[in-house]
Amino acid sequence: MPVFYHKTPKTFHLCNDVVSYLMTVLPNGQMGHLYFGKRIHDKEDFSYLLELASRPMSSWVFDDSNFFSLEHIKQEYGLYGTTDFRHPAVEILQKNGSRISDFVYKSHEIQSGKPVLEGLPATYTEHEDEACTLSLHLADPLTHVELVLRYTIFSQGGILTRSACFTNQGTDSVHLDRAMSLCLDLPDASYEWIQFSGAWARERHPKVRRLEQGITAVDSLRGHSSHNHNPFFVLKRPTADETQGEVMGFSLIYSGNFLAQAQVDTYDTTRVLLGIHPDGFSWKLEPGTSFQTPEAVMVYSDQGLGGMSRTFHGLYQKRLARGYWRDRERPILINNWEATYFDFTLDGLLSLAEKARESGVELFVLDDGWFGQRTDERAGLGDWTPNQRRLPGGITELARRIEALGLKFGLWFEPEMVNHNSDLYRAHPDWILHTPGRHDSHGRFQYVLDFSRPEVVEHIYRQMEKLLKEAAISYVKWDMNRSITECYSAALPADRQGEVFHRYILGVYDLYERLTGAFPHVLFESCASGGGRFDPGLLYYAPQGWTSDDTDAVERLKIQYGTSFCYPVSSMGSHVSVVPNHQVFRNTPLHTRANVAYFGTFGYELDLNRLTLQEQEMVKAQIAFMKRYRRLIQFGRFYRLSSPFTDSDAAWMCVSEDSRQAIVGWYRILNSANAPYSRIRLQGLNPDLCYHISEDGKPRKETCCGDELMYLGLLTSDVSAGMWPDGHERPVCDFDSRIFILEAE
Ligand code: DGJ
Repeated sequence: MPVFYHKTPKTFHLCNDVVSYLMTVLPNGQMGHLYFGKRIHDKEDFSYLLELASRPMSSWVFDDSNFFSLEHIKQEYGLYGTTDFRHPAVEILQKNGSRISDFVYKSHEIQSGKPVLEGLPATYTEHEDEACTLSLHLADPLTHVELVLRYTIFSQGGILTRSACFTNQGTDSVHLDRAMSLCLDLPDASYEWIQFSGAWARERHPKVRRLEQGITAVDSLRGHSSHNHNPFFVLKRPTADETQGEVMGFSLIYSGNFLAQAQVDTYDTTRVLLGIHPDGFSWKLEPGTSFQTPEAVMVYSDQGLGGMSRTFHGLYQKRLARGYWRDRERPILINNWEATYFDFTLDGLLSLAEKARESGVELFVLDDGWFGQRTDERAGLGDWTPNQRRLPGGITELARRIEALGLKFGLWFEPEMVNHNSDLYRAHPDWILHTPGRHDSHGRFQYVLDFSRPEVVEHIYRQMEKLLKEAAISYVKWDMNRSITECYSAALPADRQGEVFHRYILGVYDLYERLTGAFPHVLFESCASGGGRFDPGLLYYAPQGWTSDDTDAVERLKIQYGTSFCYPVSSMGSHVSVVPNHQVFRNTPLHTRANVAYFGTFGYELDLNRLTLQEQEMVKAQIAFMKRYRRLIQFGRFYRLSSPFTDSDAAWMCVSEDSRQAIVGWYRILNSANAPYSRIRLQGLNPDLCYHISEDGKPRKETCCGDELMYLGLLTSDVSAGMWPDGHERPVCDFDSRIFILEAE
C-alpha cells in the first residue's frame, strides 16, 4: 500500500519507489505539508520537519504561544487571513462579506485505484493496483463548507495527482472566488522555473529563469489555455539538466483560464499554486451543492528533465488519452488547408485525394469551407450542413468517393463558433457570449457560442451527430479560432456570471464526451488556430492535437521540442508543407520537412499534384518510411539530445521499449565555416548491445555498442550527408537533416 497513516502524530506518507509525499495534521487542525521529493523510508514520526520560528511581525494562532504562525508553516492548502499572508489556495466570499475560512481535518479514507472526476478530464487507472488514493476530509466549522483534498499516487513513476472538492453543508450560499487544484509549499527557493510560452505560430518555447523572492507566474485569461502560455511548468534544481538532477513538473488537466505561479517569500520558501484563474471566477455554491476543481499532476524525477518528460509521456499517453486510437499507430493524412485554403472544388479535392492515395496516404481531411455559406472567414460557422453548390451530394457523397479511392475520410469542424452571417446566429442571436449593452468584439469575424448553456451544446451535437451518422467520417479536426471577450451568459443570473468561463469549458468537455462516446472509432484531433488549446484537458478526448499552424521545419523543431517537455510524440499533429513556407516564408529541403514531421502523427498539407516527379517519389518513400517506423516513433521512449534554441544542431531520438531499435533525428540549422567536429551522445540504449546504424537505408560500415553511442556519441560531423543523384558527395547544408536507424544485432 503506497499510503501510510501514522495515527498518533496524524501523519500521511504517500510513496512509491521514486517519490515520497508527507503531510500532517497541524496543532490547529489544518493540514501541514512536510515533504515532496525523492523517496525516503517511512517512519512513525516526521514532526521534526515542522519548523517553527518566533519572528517579529508575525501573527500567532495560539494565545499562549508565539511559535505557531501559518506564515512560516508549509501547508497543504494555504488559507489567507489567519496568520498566513501568502497567496492562498482558496477564497470563499460569505454572506457577511468575510473571506476568511478555516479548514480543519475531520477524517480521511484510503482506497485502491483512482475515483473518476465527474464531468472533468483526468488521469485514470485500468487496474486498482496501479494507484492509491487518499481523500482528506476537512471542514470549516463556521460556514459548514466541507473540503475534500484528493491525492492519488501512481505505483509507477514519481506521479501524484491532486484536486479539491467543496461541498456546502451550511444553510447560506457562499461564493467560491478562488479554488486552486494544487498548493504545494517547498522548503527552499533554489529552483529554476521553466514555462512554455509564445504566441500563434511559435507556441511552447521553453523560457527559463531563476526563482526570486516575489511571484513568478504564467496564466491565461483568454477562455482557452492559449498559445501564449501552457498550463504546465517545471521547477528544476539549477544543476539539473536533461539527464540528471531533481526536477518537478506541474501540469493542469484543464483547457480554460488558468493560473500557474510560484511565490517565494522573504524566508525563501516557495509556494506553488496551480488551478483555475481566480480573476473573473466566482462560483455560487448553494447549500447542498459541490464544486470539483480540475486535476493537477505533479511529477518528480531525479533523472533530469528527460526523466520528468518521459514520466509525463507515459502517463498522458496511457492513462489520460483514451479510447480506440490511444494505442494505435496514427493514420498518415493529407489535409487540404494549405493546398487550397477556401478555394477548392470537388474535382480538385478528388484529384488531390487520388494522388495522395497513390503516394500511400491513408486519410484525406477536408478542412474549413465545406458548410453553410462559408467561402471565406465571414460566413457560415454554426451551420453544419454541407454546401451542395460546392460539393454536390454533400459530405456523404464526398466521403463515399474518397473511401472508394481507398482512403479514409476526415472532416473539419469549429463547433464552438458562429458568424453573424449564419442561419444559427439569425435564429439565436442571444446564443453567443456577450455582455448586455456592450459592443461584441469579434475574432476572425466570428463569435463564441455560449457553451455554458446545455441547449446550445445540444444543438451543435445534433448537427454533428447527423453528419457523423450519415457520412463515412473516420476523423474529426475540432478547431477553435478565437479567444473569448465580453464573457457573459444571457442564461445566467447576475450572481452566477463568474461561472461562465468554467461552465463554457465544461460544455466543451460535454460535447467531446458525447461525440467520442457515440463515435468511438472516430479519431479526434484538437486544434485552436494551431496550438492554442494544446493541453492535457483535450488530450483526454482527442489523442492528438494540431501542434501549431506553423509548418516550417525549423520553427517546428522548436515547437515540437518545447511541446515534448510534457506531451508525448503521439499527441503532436505534424505535417509536411510547401516552400516557401506560408508562415515564415523560409525554404527548407523536403527531406528536412519530413524528418521533423516524422516525430509526430505525420501527414501532408500541400498540393501533391504540384510537386515535381522527383519530389513525388520522395513523398512515396517518406510515407513508406513512416509506416515502417511509426510505432517506434509514436510509442517509443523519447529523448531530447540537443536543443534547437541553444545548440548548433538539434537532435532527438526514440527508443523501443526493449531498447533494441532506435531512430535518431539530427538537424543542422545553419552551417558554420570550418566547423568543429561533432558527435551527438545518444540516450536510452542498452550499453551492452551492439547496434547496426543505417542512414537513408544505407548501413554504416561500423557497428557500435550502446555504451559507445551513449558515452562517446554518434559521429555527425562527417562532411558527407550521402550522395547527390549524380554520384557526387552531398555536403551538409543549411537546414539539412539526417535520420539514423539503429538496430541491435
Ligand atoms: C486554423 C487551423 O489551425 C488551420 O489548420 C485551419 O484548420 C484553419 N483554422 C481553418 O480555418
